[in-house]
Parts: sequence; C-alpha cells; structure tokens
Amino acid sequence: MHRVTVSLKKNVRFLATMANASAPASTPKPADHWNFLSELSKRREQSPTRALMPLMKIPGMINLGTGLPNAQFFPFKSLSFKIDDGTELELSPQELNECLQYAATPGLPGLLAELKKQIQDEHNHPYEKWDVCVTTGSQDGLTKAFEMLLNPGDIIIVEAPTYSGALAYLKPSGVRFLPVAVDGEGITPDALKAAVSGLSAEDRARCKVLYTIPTGQNPSGSRAGDARYVTDLATVYISYL
Ligand SMILES: Cc1ncc(COP(=O)(O)O)c(C=O)c1O
Repeated sequence: MHRVTVSLKKNVRFLATMANASAPASTPKPADHWNFLSELSKRREQSPTRALMPLMKIPGMINLGTGLPNAQFFPFKSLSFKIDDGTELELSPQELNECLQYAATPGLPGLLAELKKQIQDEHNHPYEKWDVCVTTGSQDGLTKAFEMLLNPGDIIIVEAPTYSGALAYLKPSGVRFLPVAVDGEGITPDALKAAVSGLSAEDRARCKVLYTIPTGQNPSGSRAGDARYVTDLATVYISYL
C-alpha cells in the first residue's frame, strides 16, 4: 500500500514515527513517506532547546537556555494510587520529580520503553526504525497526525458518519472531505471505490489520508473486519489512488 493510512482509534495514544529505535538487521526498511508530509511539516526543524537536551547529561553542565524548575521547590513530595483490584502503587521521589519536570518531547523515557515493548509484543512491528510518541489523549494525536499530513485543499477520506471532534479540528483547516459510507464492519469497499473513482486525476493526487476508526466507531459503533481492511480496502486504495 503506497498511501499513508491514519487509523488512530480511541485509547491508542501514540503516533507511529520514523525515528531512532533499534531493530534486528533483517527487518524491512520503512517506506519513505517524505512526499506525504504537509508543507508545514516539511519546514519544521528541531527546537534548539530540545537539541541541547543531551548535553544536560554531562556532569556539571548548567543549562541557561530553558527554565527547568529546581526539583527542591516542587510542591508534591509523594504520590500513590490504589487501583480497583486493591493494588497500591507508589511513585519514588525520583519518579515523581521526573513527572513534574520538563521531559523529552516524545514522552517520559520509562513510559516510552514500556509502550514500545507492548507494541512489539502484541503487534510484532515488522519495520526497523520506528518509535512512539505519547500524546495528551486521542484528540491530540489526531490533530498532530492531520497537521503532519494535510495541506489546505488536500482531500481526506472520512467515514460517514465520523467522529465530530475530528471534524471540528479539520473543518477550519481548509481540507476537503470525501465521505464514504460505513456498515457494521466499517467502510464498505464499494462505497470507497465509488467515491475515489469519481475524483479527477488532480484530486486523486491530493487524496492523501483515509481517517478510519476501526474499533468502536464513533458514532456508528461498528467494528472493522480484518479481511475487509487489510485486503478489500487496501486493494481499492491501491487500484484507484
Ligand atoms: C473516535 C474518537 N477519537 C478521539 C476521541 C477523543 O479522545 P480523547 O479524549 O482521548 O482525546 C474520542 C472521544 O470520544 C473518540 O470517540
């Protein structure tokens, strides 16, 4: 499949990114998705304050470039949780300070390592060079993904109906919508075929993203069948776009 498909379902709070993760040498290299990025994303450069972060590990280094608060003045000294099976969890003072301090942009290193392990264990990620980015909820992840991929005037395929929160972000951004009907198993291949085959060649080139909610679709409640998504829809997408 040559197109980027965004399918961020609720509670899957990560963006797959191409970054510095290590993987066995035999794993395939990811496709180069540079051409799918929005013009805004292509112009982005690393923030200088973030680029300097690794230098902070050097003993005695003092950073005058950012306003890192002194941990001695953090107002919370301990934090504990009780979960519904009765287990009590307590953060060590060091863990609590880490939570209250500025952290690396993709997320807290310990949390990232655990998320990556879970993704690898459950999904056996096939590519080398992948990473995760923690976001503040699904909506934050969605808006980051949309901004990363879409220019004003680009076309996004959306389920009809789809999640109103995503539409609220997308509508003022100037993208164009291509609605496709869903049934109890998500987008129907016939409806996708009818929608994309009606596009002009110029619009096909600008049809970059398919936004789908495969599990617990909001608001229809549908759950996508694997065969339909992996085989039928991918075939339509590759054939027509
Ligand atoms: C499909 C879908 N995506 C995203 C969200 C937003 O989730 P969050 O509260 O994690 O930002 C919701 C919330 O109902 C949703 O139904």
